[in-house]
Amino acid sequence: MAATLVENRTLLKVDELKMYFPQGARLAWSAASTDKPGLRRVVKYLRAVDGVSFSIERGQTLGLVGESGSGKTTIGRAIVRLYEPTAGQILFWDKDQDKELDLASLDGEKLRQVRRRVQMVFQDPYASLNPRFTIGSLIAEPMQIYNTGSKQEIHDRVLELLKVVGLRPEYADRYPHEFSGGQRQRIAVARALSINPELVIADEPVSALDVSVRAQVLNLLQRLQKQFALTYLFVSHDLSVVRHVADRIAVMYMGKIVEMADRDELYSAPLHPYTQALLSAIPIPDPQVEKKRQRIILPGDLPSPINLPTGCRFRTRCPLAQQICSEVEPSFEAKDGGSHFAACHFAQKRAS
Ligand SMILES: Nc1ncnc2c1ncn2[C@@H]1O[C@H](COP(=O)(O)OP(=O)(O)OP(=O)(O)O)[C@@H](O)[C@H]1O
Ligand code: SF4
Ligand SMILES: [Mg+2]
Repeated sequence: MAATLVENRTLLKVDELKMYFPQGARLAWSAASTDKPGLRRVVKYLRAVDGVSFSIERGQTLGLVGESGSGKTTIGRAIVRLYEPTAGQILFWDKDQDKELDLASLDGEKLRQVRRRVQMVFQDPYASLNPRFTIGSLIAEPMQIYNTGSKQEIHDRVLELLKVVGLRPEYADRYPHEFSGGQRQRIAVARALSINPELVIADEPVSALDVSVRAQVLNLLQRLQKQFALTYLFVSHDLSVVRHVADRIAVMYMGKIVEMADRDELYSAPLHPYTQALLSAIPIPDPQVEKKRQRIILPGDLPSPINLPTGCRFRTRCPLAQQICSEVEPSFEAKDGGSHFAACHFAQKRAS
C-alpha cells in the first residue's frame, strides 16, 4: 500500500527507497530458464540504498549516520533527484496544494517547482562553489533560475543573505578562493537559503572544516533552522557531531537503516550491535569514565556492496551473530512498541 503523510506535520516521508547502480554487464551461462539454455547478459548491481524508510517532522532534524560507503549521500541525492531512484516513494508535503507529492515520480516543471523547496549543502565547500564566479553571483544564481524577483531585488537579497550567515555584504564582489573553508560553507548555506527552502539536506557540512570553526557553522545552522523554520536531514559519519544537532537519529549500514530512535534514547539505550560499537568509539571527556569504558572493536572489513552477505548484512562483523543471522534478514521494526526501531534478531540493551 502507498505510504501517506500524517497531515502537514510530517514534511518528508521516505518509503522503501532503493538506489541501485548497475556495475557493467557480463555474459554468463544459464541452463535454468524459460528460454533455451545459453549465454545470458547478467547485470550486477551495487545496492547503495536498499529499502530505506524514515520520516522527518516539520522543523525537526533527522541525523543520518554511518560509515563511509553506507549510502548516506546517495539518499540525499535521490531525494533532490540528482539520482533517479530505482524504487520507493519520497513523499513531500506541498503546503500550497495541501497535499503530498511523490518526488520519486514527479518530472518536468512539477519536479522543478518542488525541488526549490529542497536544497542541499555539500561536504566540500572548496568543490561546491564555482571558482570563476563572484560570491554575489553564486548566491544570486538560484534566484535567477527561479526568477524570484527583479535584478535589484535579487541584489538586495544577496546582501541580506550574506548578513544572515554572518558575512559582510561587501564580500559579494569577491571570489571563492578569497575565503576560508568555514566562510565558504557559510556562502554555500546562503546560496541554499536564497530560494526559501523548507527542507535542507546538509551532507557532512562540517567534516571538511577545521575543528575550531565546526562549532560556529553548526551553531549557524541551528540558528537558521529556528529563524526560517527549516527542516534538516543532517548527514554525518560522526555520532558526536550529530548528537549536537539532531532530534532523531538513523544509523545506516551498507544501504540499510539498522536503528532509528529519538536522540537521547539512541545514545542512552542503543539496541543494535552496530550502533553500540559506533557509540563505544566516541571518547568520553571524563578521564575516570573514559578509563573504564569498553571499546567494541568490530572485526573484519566492510563487505562488498555488490556481494552482500546473506541474511543480516552486518553478520560478518557482528560480535553477536548466530546461525539465524545468515539465514533470515532481520526486519526493521519498533522494538519498544513505539518509536525505537532496530533491525536485529537479538536487539537488546547491553551494559556499555
Ligand atoms: N554515481 C554512482 N555510481 C556508482 N556507485 C555509486 C555512485 N554513487 C555512490 N555509489 C556507491 O554507493 C555506495 C554508497 O555511496 P555514498 O556516497 O552514498 O556513501 P556515503 O555513506 O555518503 O559515504 P561517505 O561517508 O564516504 O560520504 C558506495 O559503495 C559508492 O561507491
Ligand atoms: S541480526 Fe544477528 S548479525 Fe545482525 S546485528 Fe543482530 S545479532 Fe548481529
Ligand atoms: Mg557521503
